Amino acid sequence: MRPIVLVLNGPNLNLLGTREPATYGHETLADISALCGRAAEEFGLAVEFRQTNHEGELLDWIHGARGRCAGILINPAAWTHTSVAIRDALVASELPVIEVHLSNVHAREPFRHHSFVSAIAQAVMCGFGSHGYRLALEHFSQRFKEQGA
Ligand code: DQA
Repeated sequence: MRPIVLVLNGPNLNLLGTREPATYGHETLADISALCGRAAEEFGLAVEFRQTNHEGELLDWIHGARGRCAGILINPAAWTHTSVAIRDALVASELPVIEVHLSNVHAREPFRHHSFVSAIAQAVMCGFGSHGYRLALEHFSQRFKEQGA
């Protein structure tokens, strides 16, 4: 059985493609989902791709990953900078976490420079656009292979 990576996307990412294209590009969330599907095939993973605008729903998904998934790739979007609850849920999941942002948050407004997630993440990817999702999945795959070896 392929290890499952839960790919979680936070608020407003459903608007990708039309939302601030100068910052986030022209790809839609469906394009990124398809990219993750292709990467999963290539790297021998199973990906579950989700997006929500409701923080409690995201928390429920993180809780449900514990003991079922092998890792969590998360773009918490604006909740990155506000949510202790998401950080605590990720810790409680006891799963390796990779934080991904499309844009380089450090080159943007100061309020985007702090992340509640980064300190508990195994790795942080930002500024690579949608390629960051692929890089994160490749890293998970490599890590799982090493662990299985
Ligand atoms: C984002 C960066 C966040 O600061 C912002 O609130 C987002 C998207 C990114 O992918 O670059 O919604 O997470």
